[in-house]
Amino acid sequence: MTLTDDRLVIRRPDEHLLVIRKPDDWHVHLRDGEMLGHVVNATARQFARAIVMPNLKPPVTTTAAGAAYRDRILAAVDPALDFTPLITCYLTDGIAGDELARGHGEGVFTAAKLYPAHATTNSAHGVTDVAQIRDALETMQRIGMPLLIHGEVTDSHVDIFDREAVFIERTLIGLVRDYPELKIVFEHITTAEAVAFVEASGANVAATITPHHLAINRNAMFEGGIRPHLYCLPVLKREKHQLALRKAATSGNPKFFLGTDSAPHVASTKETACGCAGCYNAPFALESYAKTFDEEGALDRLEGFASDFGPDFYGLPRNTGSVTLERTAVTVPERIGDVVPFHAGETLGWRFAGA
Ligand code: NCD
Ligand code: ZN
Repeated sequence: MTLTDDRLVIRRPDEHLLVIRKPDDWHVHLRDGEMLGHVVNATARQFARAIVMPNLKPPVTTTAAGAAYRDRILAAVDPALDFTPLITCYLTDGIAGDELARGHGEGVFTAAKLYPAHATTNSAHGVTDVAQIRDALETMQRIGMPLLIHGEVTDSHVDIFDREAVFIERTLIGLVRDYPELKIVFEHITTAEAVAFVEASGANVAATITPHHLAINRNAMFEGGIRPHLYCLPVLKREKHQLALRKAATSGNPKFFLGTDSAPHVASTKETACGCAGCYNAPFALESYAKTFDEEGALDRLEGFASDFGPDFYGLPRNTGSVTLERTAVTVPERIGDVVPFHAGETLGWRFAGA
């Protein structure tokens, strides 16, 4: 056992309890309306803060819409939980840098999200070419507002499993070169190429990694039949990429931190002829990450990944509270409301024992 600050952190892998600084989720879809009410407390229970994605219908593109969404989230959170949603602005072609600066200055927008048009769920209003958001990027670089990127090309001639790697070549390299001071988070990375790119970039470039991309690879999507609840974007890749992600997440490199990409869809919209992309992992997020870190013999590095590196990159204070994980069997339900969660029906070896 070691003492850090005033918290007792149990670091011996054979110990029963793991106490870490309260974590944050740096990429989550909380949705809106009825679904928001169903899912927000799963995130608020485990995380102090979350970077909330703006791909609503219509997307969050103005300071006023961002403030209103933040208030709807706060109204839906259990008052017993201490949770701060960090709102993001959805970038559209020609969006005014002034509006981003205003939202950032007023404390409404923490960051802005770049969805290539038609790359994923509710991205139809996304950016057709980064040349269309120069004003926004220049402003963000100047004011230190992070750019969060869904890094996939949408060219139908590019194989779906290659779209992230091709995005690095076609877009990201140029973006990092043209905006050398811009803080960039390459969201939910899925490939060895993305790991290598982030590692080789300056301290202004970081990445989030999801529980599912660490836990499984594309084989799981086809195990004994097609498994629509494991379909997400960017799509799961082959095992060598999963292994590269596991190595990066557990390496202690502060460029890699936690972002669940929890993206709930009701079961009927996934179990259908053309199912939606997204895994709902929020209810057992820390349990899933703990399983991966435990398997990698890196439980002592979970706290950095989950609780320290994210706020350090964003320039926000680290949380002061703690959460406890207990080494014991926990079975994930087959369904939570109308949604099938990630790990449904599986038994995990760590239980979230509260804040
Ligand atoms: C997300 C969603 O459903 O909003 N889906 C997903 O597969 N991750 C969108 C996204 O982050 O790509
Ligand atoms: Zn997402």
